[in-house]
Amino acid sequence: MSDAAGKILGVGRALGGRVVTNQDLEKVLDTDDAWVVERTGIKERRFVAEGEDCATLAADASKAALAHAGLSGEDVDLILCATSTAPESMPSAACLVGEAIGAPGVGAMDISAACTGYSYAASVAHSMLESGAARRVLLIGADAMTKVVDAQDRSTAVLFGDGAGAVVLERGSGESGFVDHILGADGRMAPLGRAGHPGTQNKLYQNGREVFKFAARIFPEMTEKLLARNGVSPDEVQYVIPHQANARIIHAAMRKMEIPEERVVINLTRFGNTSAASIPISYPDIFDSLEPGRYVVTVGFGFGLTWAANLYRI
Ligand SMILES: CC(C)(COP(=O)(O)OP(=O)(O)OC[C@H]1O[C@@H](n2cnc3c(N)ncnc32)[C@H](O)[C@@H]1OP(=O)(O)O)[C@@H](O)C(=O)NCCC(=O)NCCS
Repeated sequence: MSDAAGKILGVGRALGGRVVTNQDLEKVLDTDDAWVVERTGIKERRFVAEGEDCATLAADASKAALAHAGLSGEDVDLILCATSTAPESMPSAACLVGEAIGAPGVGAMDISAACTGYSYAASVAHSMLESGAARRVLLIGADAMTKVVDAQDRSTAVLFGDGAGAVVLERGSGESGFVDHILGADGRMAPLGRAGHPGTQNKLYQNGREVFKFAARIFPEMTEKLLARNGVSPDEVQYVIPHQANARIIHAAMRKMEIPEERVVINLTRFGNTSAASIPISYPDIFDSLEPGRYVVTVGFGFGLTWAANLYRI
């Protein structure tokens, strides 16, 4: 077995301050709770409140993760923030997090791969830890999708929510941590989904059906490839944490694999599609139940198109 690097020391999350149910959206859009639940699985989501944005959520999630690990901002030596909705193009959300957590001088950068951002950033964190360039990494997935979604467009406005998840990783002894990753992208499929920066008129567009088909195919494909090439059996997988775009995508993918459906983590019912945050916001719900020696597979897919999966040994 290969050495693992990037043991999780602490986890935290922050969600937008406004709870928005399907019933709330029925009042402002031509939609209904039954359609949204049946077609997506989403019942409610969290929108940023006044004064909140992607960077404030990322900072709050980071503070929670550091507190959980019993560490402070000065104890990390790299901050990676996966996001596509930083409040400004410059500075990066990661820089703003560094300021908020009291980590002056610590390297900080954003990684942009849409809903796949966390899985991409996890592979970078792993490499930095494995190479010795960093000893502890603060790894964040954060997005305020309501800043780029057209609130009047019922085909997208019901899907997304705002949130951030953070994990503190340490190089570790090689027993526990990331083992392997798959990364992919195909810019020929860029027209299937795009959005401008927060604050611009260029709101999110997607071809939902095509993105759906792609996601339902790539999710099991990547998972099975990752397990096979590392000699890990489906029985050894304690949790699969996929990007949370649509419950139907998740169920269709799980039916194609040998991993029992009860091992898949779903949070979209409460939080909607939180883009780069959708995987790390799951960690606080499962952290205490993680069983050493087993595995967690995290699977991202999204605009770009982009896709990535990570194998983590607990
Ligand atoms: C977006 C998505 C939920 C749409 O579900 P779908 O079953 O494909 O639905 P369609 O887009 O075919 O629309 C079906 C009908 O519902 C309607 N509809 C769309 N949004 C609606 C809403 N919020 N409420 C009610 N009806 C709605 C459509 O107008 C359409 O009506 P029509 O047949 O009269 O034209 C689904 O395609 C999806 O989740 N795709 C993946 C998206 C994704 O993952 N994006 C993020 C990148 S990871």
